[in-house]
Amino acid sequence: MVLEKMLQSQGFGSRKYCQQLIKAGAVVIDGTVITDPKYKLKLQGLSFHVYNDEYTYREKVYIALNKPVGYECSHQATHHFSVFELIDDILLQRGVQTVGRLDQDTTGILLLTDDGQFLQALTHPKKHVPKVYQMHTVDPVTEQQIIQLGQGVELRNETGLFQATDIQLISEQHLQFTVHQGVYHQVKRMVAAVGNRVESLHRLQIGQLKLDQLAEGEYCYLTEQQILAAKNQSPDAQLLKI
Ligand code: URA
Repeated sequence: MVLEKMLQSQGFGSRKYCQQLIKAGAVVIDGTVITDPKYKLKLQGLSFHVYNDEYTYREKVYIALNKPVGYECSHQATHHFSVFELIDDILLQRGVQTVGRLDQDTTGILLLTDDGQFLQALTHPKKHVPKVYQMHTVDPVTEQQIIQLGQGVELRNETGLFQATDIQLISEQHLQFTVHQGVYHQVKRMVAAVGNRVESLHRLQIGQLKLDQLAEGEYCYLTEQQILAAKNQSPDAQLLKI
């Protein structure tokens, strides 16, 4: 691939702008300033500098963000910040989208990608990628509520039963469970359906990818293994931490 096209593919702007960057001497490959926009490149293992910042060539990007409270998963956030404000501009230029959504007041793991197939694989209702949530509730969680959540509850305007699995009562008003669908406000509605209310909600895990060290508001690029883990296809069902 030629240099100007590679830069464009990575989100550096229009073909014309990339040509200007190159001609201005902003792009360095293997320690050499390259000023020819048509310079031919091998993409495998390619890294390069633009204005002294180092970048790695990526055909597609897969990132995990630890979403803070007060951020919406939309580009045109109205009453809050947008999660897209937390990521680099070049990722936005690549057309990165959120994989599903978290409410503005929900924290935790949120994936973003420009790979439509990956997005589809994780959000398609038939794929049932499990997601683990922790929540604080307004009232103490009762035995009866745990039983009902485990048996499954009906949600208004949705078909079928919504069941929680691997339910753990961490303390009186602190609950963790796994859900296998992804309908609007699912967790809050499930908890409301059994007569309690979610006060705060945190997504801990998607598939076999678990939030661990990643600080709130920070994001990281996923490795091949972590991408598989997010799809719940980790070899030997191994849990990977980020
Ligand atoms: N369920 C909810 O109710 N809210 C979220 O943000 C995610 C799952």
